[in-house]
Parts: sequence; C-alpha cells; structure tokens
Amino acid sequence: MSAPTPAPVEFIPDDYFAPLPPGALFEPSSRPLEIDVGCGDGTFLLQMAAHFPERNFLGIERLSGRIRKICRRAARQGLTNVRVIHLESAYTLAWLLPPHCAQRLHLLFPDPWPKKRHAFHRFVHPENLAGLHRALAPGGTFLFKTDHPEYFAEATAVVDASPCFTRLPWLDAAEFYPITDFEQQWLDAGKPIQAARWTRP
Ligand SMILES: C[S@@+](CC[C@H](N)C(=O)[O-])C[C@H]1O[C@@H](n2cnc3c(N)ncnc32)[C@H](O)[C@@H]1O
Repeated sequence: MSAPTPAPVEFIPDDYFAPLPPGALFEPSSRPLEIDVGCGDGTFLLQMAAHFPERNFLGIERLSGRIRKICRRAARQGLTNVRVIHLESAYTLAWLLPPHCAQRLHLLFPDPWPKKRHAFHRFVHPENLAGLHRALAPGGTFLFKTDHPEYFAEATAVVDASPCFTRLPWLDAAEFYPITDFEQQWLDAGKPIQAARWTRP
C-alpha cells in the first residue's frame, strides 16, 4: 500500500468568507500551531518547521512569488508540518483562521512604512489587536522584532496599553529562534534590532 499523499504546502480555503473549522489547516490538528505573519521567503518558517517537527507552522504572505518559493523549498525538504496561505494577514487573523488556534504568532520585520503619512499602514495598530487576540490561544505569545526604532516604540506602546496582552521578557538566548532574511540584511548593515514579546492572559 502506498503512503498517503501529503497535503499541498499552499493552503487554499474552499471559502474565503467563512471562518475555517478547527482542523482545516493540518491533520493531526492537535499539534501546537505557530504562525509567521508576513513570512517573506520563508527562511525562518522553514527552519522552525524543520527544528520542531512536533509543531505545525503556517506562513501568511501576500506576494505570490514568495508563496511559490516557500512551496518549492518545503517540498524539497520534505516538510509536512508547514503550510502557507496567500492572503492579507489582518483579514486572515481577524476573520479566516479558527479562533484561538495559535500558540505563537511571530511578526518579524514587518514593513515599517517609514513616512509619517503612511504610518497608519503599520501592522501593529490598535485596529489589528483584536485580530491578534482572536487568533492566539489563551496563554499564547506574540513575538515582534523590527529594525525600525520608531515602529518599535509605537508598537510596544500600543500593545502594552491593551488589557488583552501582558509583556514578557524576550526569549532566552539559548532558545532556537532563527534569524530571518530581512534581519540578516539589517544585521549586515549594522542596524540595531529590537524585540518584544507578550502573552495573551
Ligand atoms: C519586510 S518583509 C519581512 C519578511 C520576513 N518576516 C523576514 O523577516 O524576512 C515583510 C513581508 O510581509 C509581507 N506583507 C506585508 N504586508 C502584508 C499583509 N498585509 N499581508 C500579508 N503579508 C504582508 C510582505 O510581502 C513581505 O514579504
């Protein structure tokens, strides 16, 4: 008897306008789920999936070329615990994913929108906190890293002010947490990196 065909890496919902039922993304769905919001080329996502085979990983990304690249790389590596969805992340978290599905949400080097008049596009914004809170399981954590000092100050002020999140110290240095593609670029350019972590009590 041949082995069952693994699910395709790209997850395409049957209905983009109805919340997904629990278990729609992964079988078995009892594994903890981690979500990489704006996963880019997926280097962080794929390293995490390879390192933690007992967890599931979902990348959310709006650029199709990046989605295709991740699918190719995941298939080449034989990873069965990683999927990507080609969709806008605020919508995905606030409406599409099953509520409270994620143990960890990673938002790593989101677009900084450096011009003042564009700052309202930044992902960490009071309007997006409800979606982050909805997607996280109780006791889950939200991890944020950026090279942009103004975005860091603004984002930490917004999340710290919310009763839905409680600040935690950053991870122990020994904990496996790969450097992302953009992080490597900023490290190479000598930019300081800032990181913050919160739990959903
Ligand atoms: C600066 S890159 C960082 C990528 C990756 N996290 C890293 O650190 O290497 C930001 C990524 O988020 C994606 N992105 C930006 N806004 C998004 C949105 N609203 N929904 C989904 N993806 C988004 C971009 O296409 C891009 O790949």
